[in-house]
Amino acid sequence: VEAAGQQLDRLVRVQPDFPQPGVLFRDLTPVLADAMALDLLARALVAPAPTATLVAGIEARGFLLGAVAAMSLGVGVLALRKPGKLPGEVLSESYDLEYGAAALQVHPGDVPADARVLVIDDVLATGGTVAAACRLLRRAGAEVVGVSVAVELAALGGRAALARQEADVPVSTVRAW
Ligand code: PRP
Ligand code: MG
Repeated sequence: VEAAGQQLDRLVRVQPDFPQPGVLFRDLTPVLADAMALDLLARALVAPAPTATLVAGIEARGFLLGAVAAMSLGVGVLALRKPGKLPGEVLSESYDLEYGAAALQVHPGDVPADARVLVIDDVLATGGTVAAACRLLRRAGAEVVGVSVAVELAALGGRAALARQEADVPVSTVRAW
């Protein structure tokens, strides 16, 4: 995990005032493009939840990390999608974002009854996104065994917000800034 954190220190690009004035954007695309950093990050993300039987990746930036994390753990990956993308019967959970509002959807039929799911995303900011993911997965019948995120923006209080809403779910972050 520490080696992956050092790769994040080295490669994450910090962009002020994107996508809106006042937002300090952490761009992980250089991490994804680096083979060694990507491998270390995938392994660091799954290390806290070795018994998970399924990974859930959150659209859009959580998809890439979710897929490599699932491969690293040897399990499948579930796509938690933004509205209007899934063709079948869906469950929806809405949430507030640092900039705007959104919702996540899943095909409940894709979630095995005994699934032990690890939720993966790139950034933990206010925590609204991963909290919605946890609620959605539980409604689909899964047990959420952990949340694992590459970068935690500590000033936005997402960890405390999650602890209030999802007290039983362990939250792991590779780097906190
Ligand atoms: C970003 C980021 C996280 C979320 C964190 O996604 O990828 O998913 O915000 O914010 P929160 O902790 O305050 O909820 P965003 O929905 O902006 O866009 P994306 O589709 O590019 O992932
Ligand atoms: Mg996102």
